[in-house]
Amino acid sequence: MGHGKLKKFAENETFRCLLQPDASAILNKEPGSRALKLRDHAIKGSWGREMFGNDHPIVLELGCGKGDYTIALALRHPEINYIGVDIKGARLWKGAKFATEQALPNVAFLRTRIEFIEAFFGPGEVSEIWLTFSDPQLHGSENSRLSSPLFLERYRKFLRPGGTVHLKTDSRYLYEYTSAVCKVNELSVMASGTDIYGEVILFPAAADTPVGAPSGEKHHLCVDEVTQVQTFYEKMFLQMGLPITYLAFCIDHEGPYAFPGAAFDHDYWLQAEGPRRSFSHQPTRKS
Ligand SMILES: C[S@@+](CC[C@H](N)C(=O)[O-])C[C@H]1O[C@@H](n2cnc3c(N)ncnc32)[C@H](O)[C@@H]1O
Repeated sequence: MGHGKLKKFAENETFRCLLQPDASAILNKEPGSRALKLRDHAIKGSWGREMFGNDHPIVLELGCGKGDYTIALALRHPEINYIGVDIKGARLWKGAKFATEQALPNVAFLRTRIEFIEAFFGPGEVSEIWLTFSDPQLHGSENSRLSSPLFLERYRKFLRPGGTVHLKTDSRYLYEYTSAVCKVNELSVMASGTDIYGEVILFPAAADTPVGAPSGEKHHLCVDEVTQVQTFYEKMFLQMGLPITYLAFCIDHEGPYAFPGAAFDHDYWLQAEGPRRSFSHQPTRKS
């Protein structure tokens, strides 16, 4: 491991806003078995009191990398608490260092695998989730996509009823996959667009339409932040000339959530993803 990374990891230990739990804090060995079972972390249900000292709404950015959305949204909305979650300590360092130096009271970071997220948040503790340039996981298991039914089931356990999930991605495949998940599960889509800088966002018709948005009409973006905040990866993808897609939907029923199956044309969208398939979301620069 490089010296720079080691220095960042050492500094991470000093940031109060960064929680880096040991696996042992959330994983239990089943007695008499080698299987590991998830158990609740001590902060579950207590983020307001323990981390922020208030009961303001909490918004998560999952796969936050350097925490660009977390920081930008926190600066715009001091009345909301933001938590960026990622597994990469060297990336989290950037956001945590900025939040510490600027003494931002409404920013925290959590270093963990998102697979373990339900160990950290209690029922109704989170108001919204942002998925920003998530790895599209084109070839692996469907269950590894952060907008798969498996992950939506996890989010449902701690999202307040009707909580919104924002998906912002360069991957048309992931956008179409997530749209299909919404469709088969009848989740309300609040806004969607396949090129947010080139077109307006389409609000779907009738009951899906949010208050103030006449059904079936095209509107300019309802959320300024969708175009006004650009992450590290987003800037890279824009430089490559890739359109950026956006989908906002509500986790508005109890589930269980079904997989899209034939409602999603995997082969078609995989082929449409084109050369990006070989890019695989790994930055060439060290981060
Ligand atoms: C393509 S990067 C995007 C980072 C940031 N959102 C941005 O737009 O610059 C995807 C990020 O998600 C994180 N990630 C992917 N899968 C994860 C998982 N299962 N648990 C935790 N972090 C994950 C990676 O470490 C990486 O930082």
